[in-house]
Amino acid sequence: MSDAVDNPFFARLWTTMSSREPESLRRLRRQNLAGLSGRVLEVGAGTGTNFEFYPATVTEVVAVEPERRLAVVAERAAARAPVPVTVTGQTVEEFTDGQSFDAVVCSLVLCSVHDPEQVVRQLYSLLKPGGELRYLEHVAESGGRGRLQKFVDATFWPRLLGNCHTHRHTESTIAAAGLQVTGAHRERVMPAWVPMPAAEFAMGVAVRSD
Ligand SMILES: C[S@@+](CC[C@H](N)C(=O)[O-])C[C@H]1O[C@@H](n2cnc3c(N)ncnc32)[C@H](O)[C@@H]1O
Repeated sequence: MSDAVDNPFFARLWTTMSSREPESLRRLRRQNLAGLSGRVLEVGAGTGTNFEFYPATVTEVVAVEPERRLAVVAERAAARAPVPVTVTGQTVEEFTDGQSFDAVVCSLVLCSVHDPEQVVRQLYSLLKPGGELRYLEHVAESGGRGRLQKFVDATFWPRLLGNCHTHRHTESTIAAAGLQVTGAHRERVMPAWVPMPAAEFAMGVAVRSD
């Protein structure tokens, strides 16, 4: 399958949605980036919603965003960011800069790539030994909500939302790539009774320990 990302409908939708995020999600974004330092790769940066939350200890962010309409918006966010951010139009699969990053940031993106196992293995290879992956992702739930996730993933959700799949076992994928997961937890940003398939987020730090 081609790695190209060309999604005009989703780009318009995400540009609107990401400009109106609730404070509960902004808080998780801030938390996901807290304490980072050095050189950071951000995967699938979208409109650059994370950029304002990078701490001053980060010396450089390389932000990969292959959807060109989103990359244009991300470049504007980069110009306002508190740390230096460069936006590049490659897919993460195309990106190479081996073992040069102190951290990799993934937020709401491992749900959207075609082959998450391959992508996480690649992220491992881009990290310096001791470097860390910070993730904030939709993940598979159990019970009725899990069944709802499987239904929406098999029907309209990926088509409308830029290939987003809500029922992915992302934490297992990260661990299977050899990263040591610490501080993993889940947070719900909507009341539990809302039948929203992507309301729960998994967050954590996964370290390349070799
Ligand atoms: C739901 S958006 C999330 C954007 C951003 N990470 C955030 O937290 O707001 C998913 C993003 O992943 C990007 N994406 C999809 N496939 C990708 C790939 N193969 N490589 C890099 N980015 C990709 C999309 O273009 C989109 O910007």
